[in-house]
Amino acid sequence: MKVGIIGLGFVGLSFASVLGSKGYYVIGVESDRNKVSKIIRGEPPFYESKLTNTLKMASKKLFRVSTDIKLVVNQCDLIFVTVGTPQMKDGNIDLNMIKSTASEIGKSLSKTKNKPIIIIKSTVVPGTTQNLIKPILEKNSKKITGVGFGLITNPEFLREGKAMDDTRKPHIVVIGGDDKNSIKKVKEFYCNIYGTKIPMIITNTQTAEMIKYANNSFLATKISFINQIANICQSVAGTNVENVARAIGLDPRIGNQFLKAGPGYGGSCLPKDLQTLIRFSSKSGIDPLLLKAVQKTNASQVRMVVSLIERSLVKVKGKKITILGLSFKEDSDDIRESVSIKLINALLKRNAVITVHDPKAIENTKETFENRIRYAYSIKDALRHSQCAVIMTPWKEYGRLTNNDFRTMKRKLIIDTRRLFIGHNLNAEYHAIGVG
Ligand code: UDX
Repeated sequence: MKVGIIGLGFVGLSFASVLGSKGYYVIGVESDRNKVSKIIRGEPPFYESKLTNTLKMASKKLFRVSTDIKLVVNQCDLIFVTVGTPQMKDGNIDLNMIKSTASEIGKSLSKTKNKPIIIIKSTVVPGTTQNLIKPILEKNSKKITGVGFGLITNPEFLREGKAMDDTRKPHIVVIGGDDKNSIKKVKEFYCNIYGTKIPMIITNTQTAEMIKYANNSFLATKISFINQIANICQSVAGTNVENVARAIGLDPRIGNQFLKAGPGYGGSCLPKDLQTLIRFSSKSGIDPLLLKAVQKTNASQVRMVVSLIERSLVKVKGKKITILGLSFKEDSDDIRESVSIKLINALLKRNAVITVHDPKAIENTKETFENRIRYAYSIKDALRHSQCAVIMTPWKEYGRLTNNDFRTMKRKLIIDTRRLFIGHNLNAEYHAIGVG
């Protein structure tokens, strides 16, 4: 069995590395030559825990990288499409990459006898596989779906920072398609990797596409819900959202995950997918009132952090503020839609003097702010002479800080958006989101 993976971004490279490390013959295709040379050297183009080792293991076995889609269309039995579907400035999803990939696959299909199954892993709005990808493939290949090639939708649920674990042991596999033979083959492929006990949802392509949006929108809803509860807790002296979340999370109808209140969700998926579903729903004539409220709640959460800072500092102008954590979540160097970036922009507008620290995301942040802020490569340096430290990303090392680390601050004022220091005996003015 030969597997092709087109698009070696987060999802594609993680999947290719895990399959390769398990001994599958994998050809990864990536159009960015710079990325290709890095991957060939065994260096992932982004930070992801355990990926470097997995990639090295895969490279020693049968994982190969190319820029040529023809190669996978000629040789592979299964071709996973994992190209990006980013958000455009107007909020709509940008399908250009998936369109051009489908058209290239189609052209190569027209010249081969191979009958691969094309498996769409990229997140696309419901109907895209049927109404856009299928016609492009058929037009360019002059072949019929289910006869000249197979077509399946197979959304991905891996999380950044946990990509290796999630790819090795996903909680679910969703397979959407119309032709039974392709569904059977893809199901067998996954059963070989994950065993037969893994929950599998077999459905049509539209429902598979919808599952992904519903999943991410529900996760976003849970976070906005608990953030709103946290803000209410904050106005009631002595109340702690951690205990509220723990208690309601024990109700099996609610579940204990995604109930960590904080500065709001970020990243390349939750904000984008919610926005896309809102657009899609509105276009379909359904006013997505709840989804809009989730989005609005998330956008307002950064203002909560700013107001905590303003209330404590009174005047923000000229104050030295340290931001601890830039990536949208711990164990990642990704700053896309990171709330830290929004906070820095808000504080710069108020003429604060900003120093930032992050274990992995400083280089990415430099591209955004250049010399408008100061970059500290140690927490010690970041805190020296600071008048306010704001903990944004719950990196483990921040949770280990003690009074000794904060001793060099000019004013020992700590704003903790993740409640890392609740119960610690801090010799500082301390404000935490969700604690009244
Ligand atoms: C998400 C989905 O979880 C994953 O299934 C999908 O494939 C891609 O999108 P990811 O973007 O990697 O994954 O991060 P996730 O762990 O979902 O966190 C997203 C954001 O929510 C982060 O900013 C995180 O800090 C925040 N978050 C998460 C909270 O504020 N509270 C929580 O309880 C959980």
